[in-house]
Amino acid sequence: MVENLQARIAELKREKHAVILAHYYTNPEVQAVADFLGDSLALSVQAKSVDAEVILFAGVHFMAETAKVLCPDKKVLIPCPEAGCSLAESCDAKAFAAFKAQYPDHKVVSYVNTTVGVKALTDICCTSSNALQVVESIPADQPIIFAPDRNLGGYIKGKTGRTNMVLWDGACAVHEQFSLEGLQALKAAHPQAKVVVHPECKREVVAEGDYVGSTAGILAYCGQSDAEEFIVVTEAGILAEMEKHFPEKKFIPAPTFDAACRCNECKDMKKVTLENIISTLETLSPEIVMDEETRKAAERSILNMIAIK
Ligand code: 13P
Ligand code: SF4
Repeated sequence: MVENLQARIAELKREKHAVILAHYYTNPEVQAVADFLGDSLALSVQAKSVDAEVILFAGVHFMAETAKVLCPDKKVLIPCPEAGCSLAESCDAKAFAAFKAQYPDHKVVSYVNTTVGVKALTDICCTSSNALQVVESIPADQPIIFAPDRNLGGYIKGKTGRTNMVLWDGACAVHEQFSLEGLQALKAAHPQAKVVVHPECKREVVAEGDYVGSTAGILAYCGQSDAEEFIVVTEAGILAEMEKHFPEKKFIPAPTFDAACRCNECKDMKKVTLENIISTLETLSPEIVMDEETRKAAERSILNMIAIK
């Protein structure tokens, strides 16, 4: 059944001259039909250079929006427009404009997990892969607004020692679910394991990490490390990719506050299915549309980021 659906998608991709970009947090069977699989930074860069008339973005809404900002002449499809992101939704563009007005001499650095409206108010975007380089590219005496993730912002503030950084008070509802006590107990039970953590997690959880980085950074670290066991403190979708690349290693998902809730899964990323990919390719809709003025303003902030990488 899954194979039939995947074969139909392969056929539609040829017929419609489409490519599929997918984030590591989507379901494994969706990851398997992707032409490009990556973290937020890799997917933004890929979207810009993709050679196809149609891009189907298997991910949440802001990711497809980012692809459209970078590829205005391409048709960018989103199989599930309701797939939002708690972090992007924690920063409303109108409220952010009012916040920004309080700090007129600050440069705005925004995590790519934002709506196009917030990106249009941003000087330079970043992802969890390059947030440190982006902030370090700004002169030390230049004050910064960092939005929307208070955890990533706090982590970068600590790393750079910059006191002139104000943070928007947003967060990812998934990455904030990891339990410090649960993690410490797991570490005690697996003393040889390396702890790999995404910087969207709470500060005290991040402090437990042997490695802190983006989804792609975590994957690379697990490949390079001599360790045989890893405790993975990020969204569980990445486990499929880890097990595929490093079958000889053991990956243990970190516990969340409520062990029964599967809160280490981004429910929005899982809304992308083989079925909704098929219907989207068949009908070439839903499509991302946006007004050109906002798109252009947002594009500048993303291109400023890509130039730094
Ligand atoms: P990265 O893809 O930068 O690791 O970000 C994780 C995330 O939460 C994506 O929404
Ligand atoms: Fe947004 Fe968090 Fe899901 Fe990433 S894991 S898409 S930040 S809600």
